[in-house]
Amino acid sequence: PAIKPWGGRFSEPTDAFVERFTASVEFDQRMYHHDINGSLAHAQMLTKVGVLTEDEYQQIQTGLEAIRSEVEAGEFQWSVTLEDVHMNIEARLTDKIGITGKKLHTGRSRNDQVATDIRLYLRDEIDSIAKELTRLQQGLTTLAGNEAHTIMPGFTHLQTAQPVTFGHHLLAWNEMLERDYSRLMDCRARMNQSPLGAAALAGTTYPIDRAMTAELLGFDAPTENSLDSVSDRDFAIEFTAFASLVMTHLSRFSEELVLWTSAQFNFIELPDRFCTGSSIMPQKKNPDVPELVRGKVGRVNGHLISLLTLMKSQPLAYNKDNQEDKEPLFDTIDTLKDCLKAYADMVPAIKPKKDVMEEAARRGFSTATDLADYLVRKGVAFRDAHEIVGKSVAYGVEQEKDLSEMTLEELQQFSDTITADVFDVLTLEGSVSARDHIGGTAPKQVIEASKRAAQRLSQR
Ligand code: ARG
Repeated sequence: PAIKPWGGRFSEPTDAFVERFTASVEFDQRMYHHDINGSLAHAQMLTKVGVLTEDEYQQIQTGLEAIRSEVEAGEFQWSVTLEDVHMNIEARLTDKIGITGKKLHTGRSRNDQVATDIRLYLRDEIDSIAKELTRLQQGLTTLAGNEAHTIMPGFTHLQTAQPVTFGHHLLAWNEMLERDYSRLMDCRARMNQSPLGAAALAGTTYPIDRAMTAELLGFDAPTENSLDSVSDRDFAIEFTAFASLVMTHLSRFSEELVLWTSAQFNFIELPDRFCTGSSIMPQKKNPDVPELVRGKVGRVNGHLISLLTLMKSQPLAYNKDNQEDKEPLFDTIDTLKDCLKAYADMVPAIKPKKDVMEEAARRGFSTATDLADYLVRKGVAFRDAHEIVGKSVAYGVEQEKDLSEMTLEELQQFSDTITADVFDVLTLEGSVSARDHIGGTAPKQVIEASKRAAQRLSQR
């Protein structure tokens, strides 16, 4: 078994259970690439300030690059005895290049090393999540532009409220994601500072150049305080809070897709490739993808609570507790990426059933407010208009007729202010087109809004 890099002061080997219990290599090895990059920057800096020689740097660089290739080829032997990704790589470097490998950790601790690695790793993941979020939003805004004239019922309390356009509904989804994107960018900007050089907790006695390593690693600046640097995990919490909100939004979309694909709504068709069948009921086509996304919000919310609870009451500076940050964070990243991919692939393939949507909007007295507004324009007080239309609707329920299907005489039973021009406002098209202002559901506005949304996306 490998000898512990910290074994000097110990007089007996680590208990086998304790070794397994305290190790993180099983889940932190995914940071190998960023760990190596952090080490390269550190070594380059040590060379510049004269702690390592140029020749030593060359050996370290060659060794670390060879290790990167071994990991990528699946040939690297990860050892639980060596605890984590950091000591596994360092020990392997020493195997390969001898004594020079033992110099790499000069002026550094695993505490600032791991804080650096997680930030580097998360930063790359944030960039790929940002791309996927953008791809989903592009799909949404394109579909919204195409469906600017498609009419469906808008709901409150899941009861038919007023007609809206399908494009308008999709752009509401897009707004949620637009805010998520800006939250992600905020998180990235706040996180992008380099903890490297904080060492164990107090800094180091070597003449290090923290600005240099920060710059080499693409950070905006070194962090201000060494104690905070090694113990801060705010960025993980902030990212997971962002993810939790995205997942909440996706779960709302999912709920609607599940409802809309049901026989009872029948508003949309999802392509077969996004659905699965039943092993017993031959007729079934189940919307598994949206259902699973809806379900996965649970684990991400759980991870947020895990991380908040992990950090609660921790005294400065580094504590081993912090090793528990990785699994919730990594699973949040993996889950979110999968869900965003599912949605980015699926959204452009949504096929609205326009006739069904329109018919549903007609059935629910969705133009009742339009009739009330019509009466108000003719001088009736709004409360009286509300009462008149309420009576007309009650009549329609009894006669199984929508307002637009009644004759003028039938409507005039409730108010003689109603004249033939009422039918302009009772149609679904008239109703949506009348809501013609920024943020309104009129097709003209939806087309403009989808252009503005696409424009914003193109500027990212
Ligand atoms: N595997 C550890 C972690 O994930 C690395 C830092 C350990 N530092 C220490 N002094 N035990 O947090």
